[in-house]
Amino acid sequence: MRKKISIIGAGFVGSTTAHWCAAAELGDIVLLDIVEGIPQGKGLDLYQAGPIMGFDARITGTNDYADTANSDVIVVTSGAPRKPGMSREDLIKVNADITRDCVTKSAPLSPNAVIIMVNNPLDAMTYVAAEVSGFPKERVMGQAGVLDSARYRTFIAMETGVSVEDIQAMLMGGHGDEMVPLPRFSTIGGIPVTEFIPKERLDAIVERTRKGGGEIVNLLKTGSAYYAPAAATAQMVEAVLKDKKRLIAVSAYLTGQYGLSDMYFGVPVILGAGGIEKIIELPLNEEEMALLKKSADAVRSTIETLKTL
Ligand code: LAC
Repeated sequence: MRKKISIIGAGFVGSTTAHWCAAAELGDIVLLDIVEGIPQGKGLDLYQAGPIMGFDARITGTNDYADTANSDVIVVTSGAPRKPGMSREDLIKVNADITRDCVTKSAPLSPNAVIIMVNNPLDAMTYVAAEVSGFPKERVMGQAGVLDSARYRTFIAMETGVSVEDIQAMLMGGHGDEMVPLPRFSTIGGIPVTEFIPKERLDAIVERTRKGGGEIVNLLKTGSAYYAPAAATAQMVEAVLKDKKRLIAVSAYLTGQYGLSDMYFGVPVILGAGGIEKIIELPLNEEEMALLKKSADAVRSTIETLKTL
């Protein structure tokens, strides 16, 4: 039996996630949207790419949640994207309502699924999804760290001219401009990145990474990034469906780790069939802890705002 992946939201991020998942033959895909025709059209079009690209995946476009029943993974991408000048937090009200609706309708039909949230403000929307679904917290998570560290790795590759494949980078914190790229835990071919890049250049790369989503919003003017966010999401889907035990940063529910609790926040985890199987606690120094705390304060305040809506 093939695995079943339901992707809620057939916009750029949702449909591109379907594309990466299909190309990697991760399972059969249900692409759902409230707009009639769009998920059906995109789904059929992607299905018809199979004979050319050589992948076997049944892709169903639908407006009916019943088609998502018994999914192994549910990906929620629905929500309004940012416009230039907006922060991810500006989206809170509209996207919280959309998230509640999507999760209320999809979670009960797939009680054993892993839920991966992709809409913004990411950590707060993941908190909402966990609350609404009532799923065990290890089966609800947010995609951010894979994307943000991919941006960081790309900028390091651009700076050094070394293959992106040989660049490993850890990044923690909320998916906002206070996120915390960690040069001390980033390497090129196993060699600390600080051996290759002087501090002031590395600082500039860290800053560009933090604003990486906004850089793309400003270029596109309508909508936000989707190739890399979707690729990051597909990597998480793969980690779950193939029980890969990837060590990657995801937005996970914290119960005291790093001195934080009752919040979703980007931390390194082991991701496998059970969802978040373990949260890794890195030995951060004082400066890194201070940056992490600042990022946590920003996420905490967004979650508090959410509670007042
Ligand atoms: C980004 C948005 C999608 O980082 O949060 O591109």
